[in-house]
Amino acid sequence: MEQIGKNIDLAAKFLKEGDLVAIPSETVYGLAANALNEKAVFSIFTAKNRPHFDPLIVHIKNAEQIDLYAEWEDDRLKKLADKFWPGPLTLLLQKKEIIPDIVTSGLSRVALRVPNHELALDLLNKLEFPLAAPSANPFGYISPTTAQHVQDQLADRVAYILDGGACRVGLESTIVGVEDGKILIYRLGGLSVEEIKNAIGDVTLSLIESSDPKAPGQLKSHYAPKKPLYFGDAEKLMQQHSNKKIALLLFGKTNLKSDFNFNLSEKADVLEAAKNLFDMLRQADNSEAEIVIAQLVPDENLGKAINDRLKRAAV
Ligand code: TXA
Ligand code: MG
Repeated sequence: MEQIGKNIDLAAKFLKEGDLVAIPSETVYGLAANALNEKAVFSIFTAKNRPHFDPLIVHIKNAEQIDLYAEWEDDRLKKLADKFWPGPLTLLLQKKEIIPDIVTSGLSRVALRVPNHELALDLLNKLEFPLAAPSANPFGYISPTTAQHVQDQLADRVAYILDGGACRVGLESTIVGVEDGKILIYRLGGLSVEEIKNAIGDVTLSLIESSDPKAPGQLKSHYAPKKPLYFGDAEKLMQQHSNKKIALLLFGKTNLKSDFNFNLSEKADVLEAAKNLFDMLRQADNSEAEIVIAQLVPDENLGKAINDRLKRAAV
């Protein structure tokens, strides 16, 4: 049997048996298991080498499913769901009993999202349970945006990899919740802060920089390649590291050149850059360069999330 394919029935069969299946989404590939089956969820943590204090996102087929698993707390969150689901938005809501504590690492809120990917939705529609799925990479490494990325790293730990092509957005979902009546953004991601503000008004960034386990996706040493990565003004960094073999990650029109060159978007389009980011980071990491130097991208729209990921990937 091929391990990678588009066979939804096979994927559904494995998931019903409590096995792990990698699934596509518009953001990144997820490592999925039956969210209501504690044993299956446990095996996600083992496969990823993920600490148990880092909770998982639960994927549901549509917004109506929310009532089964959580309580709506604030009309603004409902408005976001109406407007952006299916899409790269995760909501933190007070969980109901049915969600096992292992999914939320014992926290009272559960992270929920409806992925915007036809294969993933077809799969969810064949199942009577939601899917817990973190990004399908070993803990701390770069998230996968193709089925091949998943196979390269987790082949021996998943029953099947559902191939939905390259992820259209390429950055993980934006995580949003409410505390004391304030809308908070815990993780920048595929839905921009600007879009959220346009929909519901003021929001507060509450990006967690330390090892506070409230949203460990915000741990600083995340999304990291194996090679040292330096992030900022590429030209200056190249001068500082001129004795090293360099892989450059650039953005827009530029004359900078080094040993290995990757341009996230020659036409300076942040959407295209987001889509290319993790794949090019992997290529840079797998190149014969000794270090990676990444250029800061414009800090607007998805550029904010790109800079956030590069900052966390940096030494
Ligand atoms: O786009 C995405 O969000 C992808 C796809 C597969 O859906 N998933 C993803 O999962 O990025 P993961 O596990 O790599 O990141 C999920 C983040 C983690 O930082 C986790 O700490 C946070 O969501 N999270 C999950 N449940 C939470 C909860 N109950 N309270 C606070 N943070 C939570
Ligand atoms: Mg992740």
